[in-house]
Amino acid sequence: MIVIGGSASRQLSESLARELSVPVAKTGIKRFPDDEVYVRVEDDLSGQDAVIVQTAFPDRNIVELFLLQDAARQAGAAKVTTVIPYYGYSRQDKLFNPGEALSAWNLASHFELFSDRVITVDLHAPKVLEAFKKQNIHISGMPAIARHLEQHNVDAVISPDKGAVARAGEVAKILGTSFDYLEKTRIDGQTVAMKPKSLDVSGKVVAIVDDIISTGGTIITAAGQLKAQGAEKIIAACTHGLFANNSLPRLKDSLDVVFATDTLEGEASEVSVAPEIAKALRE
Ligand code: R5P
Repeated sequence: MIVIGGSASRQLSESLARELSVPVAKTGIKRFPDDEVYVRVEDDLSGQDAVIVQTAFPDRNIVELFLLQDAARQAGAAKVTTVIPYYGYSRQDKLFNPGEALSAWNLASHFELFSDRVITVDLHAPKVLEAFKKQNIHISGMPAIARHLEQHNVDAVISPDKGAVARAGEVAKILGTSFDYLEKTRIDGQTVAMKPKSLDVSGKVVAIVDDIISTGGTIITAAGQLKAQGAEKIIAACTHGLFANNSLPRLKDSLDVVFATDTLEGEASEVSVAPEIAKALRE
């Protein structure tokens, strides 16, 4: 086995190769003056099982991923596994209006076109996995988040909404804490109150876990409400830290701790999903 690291997932590729005790292929990836990407796999991959790791976000990294899949074949790889740490467009998982593109499903068919199997992490809507015709493996980012939370003496794990409560439950099970979700109650046209369905957070260290933090609006609102309900310390953790609109500084101001996994590499990606991906590749 050999790992091929795309430019959006260099650190994760290195961590994964270390976990698997396999090499990282030598590649040449650069941008032409017009921003088109050039990729080359410099090692001879004849007969090898190549594992490409590349986050599919933003768009330019999706094209790079397609070219890496092709380059791996051109370099002789016998088998190509594509690891997509963050799956761009995963939130457009159904038609919200007639005539829209079914983006998440459409991309699945492209991701697997030049690949034998695809590995994804915490897809926003796991139903999208049904779009894959070839083998696919879906990995949870929650064990990695739980690993990092172990240092914070968390009392309760909360999900921002009912639909995602299983994620909070998964982290809570590993940490041996209670868990809950935030129930929304409309106060008036402008105000929505968010309160844990049954837990009392007063005096507690609370971790809010989510799949994605984008603008940070969900987490900042949830944290404000939990603070008003007496939470002593509030931590926000997500698998995919997009931090759109430069929201990380605002999040850091509103919370005691903010971190993400390395599916999107940046200053907040403090824990790696490499052990979980490696485990799936070994099985
Ligand atoms: C929503 O269903 C997702 O799980 C996240 O809660 C959402 O994408 C977060 O977005 P934002 O950070 O912009 O509030």
